[in-house]
Amino acid sequence: MLVAVTGCSSQKADNSIVNAGTNAEFPPFEKLEGNGEITGFDAELIQAIAKAENLQLDFQHYGWDSMLNGVARGRIDMGIAAITITDERKRMYDFTEPYFEAKQVILVPKTSPVQSLNDLKGKKIGVQSATTGEKVVQEAFGKTYPGLQRYDVVSSAIDDLKWNRLDAVVVDKAVNLEYIKRLGEEKYKIIEDPAIPEEYYGIIVKKGNRELLDKLNAGLKKIQENGTYDKIYNKYFWEN
Ligand code: ARG
Repeated sequence: MLVAVTGCSSQKADNSIVNAGTNAEFPPFEKLEGNGEITGFDAELIQAIAKAENLQLDFQHYGWDSMLNGVARGRIDMGIAAITITDERKRMYDFTEPYFEAKQVILVPKTSPVQSLNDLKGKKIGVQSATTGEKVVQEAFGKTYPGLQRYDVVSSAIDDLKWNRLDAVVVDKAVNLEYIKRLGEEKYKIIEDPAIPEEYYGIIVKKGNRELLDKLNAGLKKIQENGTYDKIYNKYFWEN
């Protein structure tokens, strides 16, 4: 038997839940704690934006690919995960205004002779799959460069660097800075190559979801103007 459902508007009510996704394996931007809580710069930023705009968030951890696919297909309303704004991604998503400046940098052992991106030629380089780190390596040495090793999570690449199964890891600067602290700054160093272009992070929504995009931009603007953004920024990055 079919039951008619009445009083159900096709538009989401203002207090409806927004499903937000991240890939909580990218400290200090997002990290999954033992109790299941997602912490980090992005986590605090999105909570502050949601509060400013009265959005009810359901914030969940996914694999990097599932998070991106989920937003593209509309299964997840938005994604915040240190996602670099690129022309390629702009075809699939709408991005908020940029909220963070980043850059791909190279992590190598202190004893490594590597001084630039070019010096990585012929070496084994670890990256997270389908990230701008992967793109930087592919643009330098070709799409099928045999030394390129792709990982689902950055921490596995870091482990392989530690065990000398890799010569270098290319990932976002703040993330490499976080891992070098854990590995020991006396044993590793970070190479910043001026030839690698700057990047900017944005929050993604499914292409065309203007309503949510406007709210996220409005919230971002509010927290940038009222000092909340700076407070969160200083908590994570004051020493840099
Ligand atoms: N910024 C890089 C990109 O957009 C890497 C982001 C990875 N983020 C993550 N949460 N795993 O491709």
